[in-house]
Parts: sequence; structure tokens; C-alpha cells
Amino acid sequence: MACEKKGVSSFTVKVGLLLLAGCILVPISLVTMFRHYTVPLQSLSLLFSVGSASSVIWGEENVGSHHSGRNEGPVLCDFSSSRSDMCELKGDIRVLPNATIVLHHPLARRQSWRMKPHPRKNDRHALARVTEVTVVSSSSYATADHSAPRCTANHTAPAVVFSVGGYAGNMFHDMTDVLVPLFITTHRFAGDVHLLVGDAQPWWLDKFRPLLAALSRHDVVDMDRAGSSGVLCYPHVVLGLEFHKEMRVDAKRTAGEYSMADFTLLARRSYGLPRDTAIRLHDRFSGRPRLLLISRKTTRAFTNVGAIAEAAAAMGYEVVVGEPEHHAADMASFARVVNSCDVMVGVHGAGLANLVFLPAGAVVVQVVPLGGLDAMAAEDFGAPARDAGLRYVHYRIAVAESSLARRYPPEHRVLRDPAAVRRDGWMALRAAYLVGQNVTLDVRRFEGALRRVMELLR
Ligand SMILES: *[C@@H]1O[C@H](CO)[C@@H](O)[C@H](O)[C@H]1NC(C)=O
Ligand SMILES: *[C@@H]1O[C@H](CO)[C@@H](O)[C@H](O)[C@H]1NC(C)=O
Ligand SMILES: *[C@@H]1O[C@H](CO)[C@@H](O)[C@H](O)[C@H]1NC(C)=O
Repeated sequence: MACEKKGVSSFTVKVGLLLLAGCILVPISLVTMFRHYTVPLQSLSLLFSVGSASSVIWGEENVGSHHSGRNEGPVLCDFSSSRSDMCELKGDIRVLPNATIVLHHPLARRQSWRMKPHPRKNDRHALARVTEVTVVSSSSYATADHSAPRCTANHTAPAVVFSVGGYAGNMFHDMTDVLVPLFITTHRFAGDVHLLVGDAQPWWLDKFRPLLAALSRHDVVDMDRAGSSGVLCYPHVVLGLEFHKEMRVDAKRTAGEYSMADFTLLARRSYGLPRDTAIRLHDRFSGRPRLLLISRKTTRAFTNVGAIAEAAAAMGYEVVVGEPEHHAADMASFARVVNSCDVMVGVHGAGLANLVFLPAGAVVVQVVPLGGLDAMAAEDFGAPARDAGLRYVHYRIAVAESSLARRYPPEHRVLRDPAAVRRDGWMALRAAYLVGQNVTLDVRRFEGALRRVMELLR
């Protein structure tokens, strides 16, 4: 989850910014600029040589308009984002089972490069579980082997090649690193696109099959199960996924054409969830709002689930206590439970990513533990909830509500100075606050948040 974020390599960001600045100020000199930065880019584990004006880096301002006819070269890459690298290939493209893509195009010059198609670009822990893809243009391929590999299947629809790798199995990461970026990347193809998935366990594909089927009407190609694929040929391949923000679609970059609310609608539809809107408490006949209390079992656990549930019930909520499961069938049934509710309460953690299944107008209450985690918590779940058409309540616990208050004396830096702990690095922060902390809600104090939720449901 968010908690696995790593420091961003400032070096990479600098190169990206320089490239981006170049794109904005002097689009015409892109290729020149790119040549200029060939050496730094190579040290980013990218092997890339640009031999013709048909290879262009597209910066942010071009995404979405690059296929308008202006840049019709065979290779369009964007390495400017700090989260994701993307390349778009056109021509006769052959995807080999060994993670090699061979590109034939009359304008393609001799070039080859490697990239990891997973949007956690500067996170080496995540990328350690992502298979690198090699792209070779026809001429450099031909120097090794004079005949191109023969197509096992020749498709007319485009393909998107990406890796599930990273932190697969963590619901937040499945959403923010793979499924939301995949939704963004495939949107313009309206379902007529092949999904070529790397580093995916069969259970992962089963778990998200309904959602993948809503994004593509073709069978998912599991790149790692040998024998199933052969040499697959396409006229158009997108390598990598377009990333906007954590679990969000940036409306500015889609020109308002689609949004996070469209993603969550698709998620509800694909799992057959019936409720599109939450309860409205305008009169006394509307019934009781259902509140889902997400109970984590080992870290950041509520230690007084019973008391919280009783207090909520006394205020008029119908309370459901649930724990997200990892198995495919269990996720589908948990999604149904989430969708049946109007309020979801949970401590900062991957389980809150289930907000994608809530009906519009529902309320997400994020309980934020000690540790100066507010900005991260708001970014990971607050902003996505709002973008998805939900309401959001941010409940920062008091020191007394943390198990840390019973473990450390009142003046200890863990309680008094999270910023100092954070300066010791991510692992220190994680150990102290994300792994080492449980939450005992002060029920009287929390009732204030639940009253606010009732107001939001009116
Ligand atoms: C993949 O297979 C092709 C054809 O057999 C071979 O030419 C190429 O070197 C292989 N690539 C890698 C990265 O092993
Ligand atoms: C794939 O099919 C297209 C359209 O039928 C054809 O133009 C192209 O040559 C074929 N490519 C290969 C590699 O067979
Ligand atoms: C938090 O609660 C869980 C479940 O009761 C327990 O296993 C864990 O050791 C607790 N952690 C801390 C830091 O108290």
C-alpha cells in the first residue's frame, strides 16, 4: 500500500523535468534535446538511441493528442513522469514470449531499449518484481537474425503491455498501480484492445477478471504462461500504463471526458453490484444507513470493535463488521457487502481501497493513526473518495487513542515528534506507526465524526 512508497530519485525527476520543460518551450527541438540527454537516460537503465526525427518524446501536454496526426512516427515515448514510462509503437509489432517486442516500420531506425511497464518507476522494491521488456526495431533485430519471427496470431486491434508485478495482492496497489492506470490507458480503445499481462499470478487474474473483462472484450494474455501465447502480432502497441495520481483520474488530462466516478461505476457494473446511490436521509421512512467497519487483524487494528459498533448502532446505524479477503471469490462477496453499505469506516490501510465499490454519495471515514500520516492518508484515500463522488471524513486520532500511548512515556519522540522519526527514514516510520500501532477509538470523541456522517447523508 501507500506505505511502501519510496524516496523519489531526484536525478530521474530532474531529467524528466528538463525533458518536459523542453517539450513546453520548444517542441521543435525535442529530438535535439533528447540527444543531448542520451547519456543520463542510459544510466536510468534505459538503452535508447534515437536515429531519426520520427522518434519523439511526448510530454504531458501531448498525451491524448499525440495520435491526432502530428506525430505519426513508429515510436512515441514519454519518460517525463516520475511514476511511469510509456511508449506507443506503430507498424508491424511482434510480441515474443520472452518479453521481447520486435518493431518493423519503414521509418524505424536501428534502436533498442528496455523498460519496466509498471507505474512505480522510482520504487526499486516494486520494480524488482517486474519483468523488463526489451524493444528492438526491425533493423537491429535483423542484424542478429535475418528473418523476423513468424506470427502465431495476427490481430487488427491494438494491445497494451503491462506488468502486475510490484505489490500485487494489496488492494490499494492493485487499484492505484494497475487497474486505474489501465482504465486510463485503455479508455480510448473502448474495449477493442488486447491486454498482455506480465508477472501476474493466476489468482490475481481470477480476482480481477470481471474488471479486466469490462476493459477489454478480448481474452487476457498471460505473458508468463508459456505455450499460451506464441508470437503475437499487432499494428499498434502501448507499452506501460498512464498514471495520473494515486487511485485517481486527473480530469484535466482527460479533458473531462471521463473521471474516477466512471471507473467506480465500471467496477460496480463488472462485479454485478446493484447500488449506484447511497441512502438519503430526508425523511424518517428512509431506513437506517448501513455502516461497514473494516477490521484489520494484525497491524493498525481496532482493539474495541465491539464498543465502536455498539456506539454506532445506538446512533441509528446498522453496523456490519468486515475484513477484506484476498481470494477471488471472497473479494467479489466482500465487494457486495461494501456496495450494500452507505458508510465505510477504517484505519488508514489497503482495505479502504474497497471504496471503489461504494454507491455514489456514500461516506468514507478514514481513521488516521499517529505518525504525521495525514497528507499521505488524504492523498491515498481522501482525494480518490471525493473524485469518485463519495463524501469523506478524516478522523485523526488523539494520542490517547493510540496503543503507542501505552507503550511509550508521554514525552517520547514517537508520541511527540513524528517528524523526527520520519527523518530516520521510511523503514523507521513504517515500524513505529504503520506496523507498531493499534487504535482504541474514544467512542465519545468518535461519535462526533459519526454525527457529521449523518449530516452528510441528509
Ligand atoms: C527472445 O527471443 C528471440 C528469438 O528467439 C531472440 O532473438 C532474443 O534475443 C530473445 N530475447 C531475450 C531478451 O532473451
Ligand atoms: C497481419 O494482417 C494484416 C492485415 O491483414 C497484414 O497487412 C499484415 O501483413 C499481417 N502481418 C503479418 C505479420 O502477418
Ligand atoms: C495489534 O493488535 C493485534 C490483534 O489483536 C495484535 O496481534 C498485535 O500484536 C497488536 N499490535 C500492537 C503493536 O499492539
